[in-house]
Amino acid sequence: MSSIESVSHETRVFEPSADWQRSAAIGGMDAYNALCKEAETDFEGFWARLAKENLQFAKDYDKVLDESNPPFYKWFTGGELNVSANCLDKNIAAGLGDKVALIFEADGGEVTKVTYSELLSKVSKIANGLKGLGVKKGDRVVIYMPMSVEGVAAMQACARIGATHSVVFGGFSAKALQDRIQDTGAVAVFTADQQVRGGKQLPLKSIVDEALSLGGCEAVKNVIVYKRTGADVAMQAGRDVYMHALADKQSDVCAPEMVDSEHPLFILYTSGSTGKPKGVQHSSAGYLLWAMLTMKWTFDIKPNDVFWCTADIGWITGHTYITYGPLAVGATQIVFEGVPTYPNAGRFWEMIQRHSATIFYTAPTAIRSLIKACESDQKVHPTSYDLSSLRLMGSVGEPINPEAWMWYHKNVGGEKCPIVDTFWQTETGGHMITPLPGATPLVPGSCTLPLPGIMAAVVDEVGGDLPNGQGGILVVKRPWPSMIRTIWGDADRFKKSYFPEELGGNLYLAGDGAVRDKVSGNFTIMGRIDDVLNVSGHRMGTMEIESSLVANELVAEAAVVGRPDDLTGEAIVAFVVLKGDRPTGEAGQKLAMDLRNWVGKDIGPIAKPKEIRFGDNLPKTRSGKIMRRLLRSLAKGETITQDTSTLENPAILDQLGKPI
Ligand code: PRX
Repeated sequence: MSSIESVSHETRVFEPSADWQRSAAIGGMDAYNALCKEAETDFEGFWARLAKENLQFAKDYDKVLDESNPPFYKWFTGGELNVSANCLDKNIAAGLGDKVALIFEADGGEVTKVTYSELLSKVSKIANGLKGLGVKKGDRVVIYMPMSVEGVAAMQACARIGATHSVVFGGFSAKALQDRIQDTGAVAVFTADQQVRGGKQLPLKSIVDEALSLGGCEAVKNVIVYKRTGADVAMQAGRDVYMHALADKQSDVCAPEMVDSEHPLFILYTSGSTGKPKGVQHSSAGYLLWAMLTMKWTFDIKPNDVFWCTADIGWITGHTYITYGPLAVGATQIVFEGVPTYPNAGRFWEMIQRHSATIFYTAPTAIRSLIKACESDQKVHPTSYDLSSLRLMGSVGEPINPEAWMWYHKNVGGEKCPIVDTFWQTETGGHMITPLPGATPLVPGSCTLPLPGIMAAVVDEVGGDLPNGQGGILVVKRPWPSMIRTIWGDADRFKKSYFPEELGGNLYLAGDGAVRDKVSGNFTIMGRIDDVLNVSGHRMGTMEIESSLVANELVAEAAVVGRPDDLTGEAIVAFVVLKGDRPTGEAGQKLAMDLRNWVGKDIGPIAKPKEIRFGDNLPKTRSGKIMRRLLRSLAKGETITQDTSTLENPAILDQLGKPI
């Protein structure tokens, strides 16, 4: 537990204002405590009440929680509903048809507004188009699209007909895309001719073509192409169809297909500590319930809010807090195609001002890069914009360092907006540990307390409770509605990864270390305890990158570790042993660059190591195990003070200690 001993010494505390306590969905700690108590005393009754208040079932469920086959928990069993109908039809029936659902801003600044009625019509046409192609309930559909109204609509259209979508982030390579198409057995792929980011046009359709040509994707019958830029792309007759050509001719009425509560709404791949990325399978009813509740509790969403989550639909944050949560609660939200630094680093602030955004949810990495950018250019400083519309801000994906928190609070939030530092994961479906803006006293750098109904705890290596103040393993003791159901096609791996026997088999293992404050009980997340890195809020498995490196014909062996980085949180450092001689100087630089590009092409640019070092060997124990903790120290530039007596080849440390 040595890596997670350091404890935050933060003493600044920001109490919720009287206004916030009065107006918030959960106002004051008494209200929070009462909800926690309700969940503790009548767990199923608590969730039943919330489901009744939030979900529209076509057929009522029989049982709130089925625990007969742990850890394969089932929620609201026997119930039937449609997620798209809960997002669109329900709100239109409640009179929100003319309310703006999406304010889409393109990379170049063009703005398109789409009302709930318009969105339903668009979704229905795409859904009918899918049906016309033969896609049906239970089929899998891969979505490899840019941030767009069409991307959100494609996800909703799948939900409407009961097809399970799997969105692949547009930055992933053809190989990564092929893996996911193959693993899901998808029958159709949505893509665009190109994507536009930071003024640049980047390919998408040609990457899909390449992915499909790699083999194993024979189940794919159709590729549906959204015309984003109008670039000339190859269209294979009989397989490829433009989205407008498919959808425009369809009826704008599509009866939603009712599905079982547990029906897989989507599969989303994420990195684990070993092997291939895991296809995290989420449900329909439970997932949607938690997406709605966290919109209400954490974001205190109100009818007049303009909500903006800057994530991409390729990640879980974009699923829950763009495609599903905001729509299900009838909110108006901003969807942004571009990047925070184009045309300049004031883009976020300008957009908040232009659209009078009230709630802003972004990642610490973006905040850190914008802090840096405005240091040298007052014009792009947030205080140069009118951000007075903001009332609440959030952070997600990685720890936010207290200084970045303070900057965000002062310069973006004008010292009046609470910050919700939301801890959660692809697997949890929605927020788990987070402040509530009208209740929880905020502490910079701490995600504070679990949401009501979430039984989070810190335990030791055998699952025993640890006292506050002592660092340990973060677990969740009871199931919750939006939890991962299984790993697609690998139930055994699901069980082993998330409910390991060593912890007793009944605790959900998050994979992070955590410590609770002695007095407040606040949680501070200490980072991953497995071989998963978090680079700019993106999860990367060290094994994945190592496998990619050793797939290169020049490479004999590779070990990848993370190093703290001011901008990206963690940076990837790869130690590589070549089959041939170890290059130095310019030849070394050139080969390092080639290998970085190799990984970029193999997995995607986000997986490129920041630094590569070559050695004649790696530090190994006599039994041949790579001593990663030593590599972590070397990557940081630390002098080795740890015990190296078990090391077979201590001389190697010198060689690996220096950059090329
Ligand atoms: O290590 C934790 C970190 O991100 C991991 C989950 O990554 P992913 O599944 O990609 O989901 C990211 C978006 C929800 C966690 O295991 N993490 C996420 N949020 C925080 C965080 N670490 C500290 N503080 C957070 N608020």
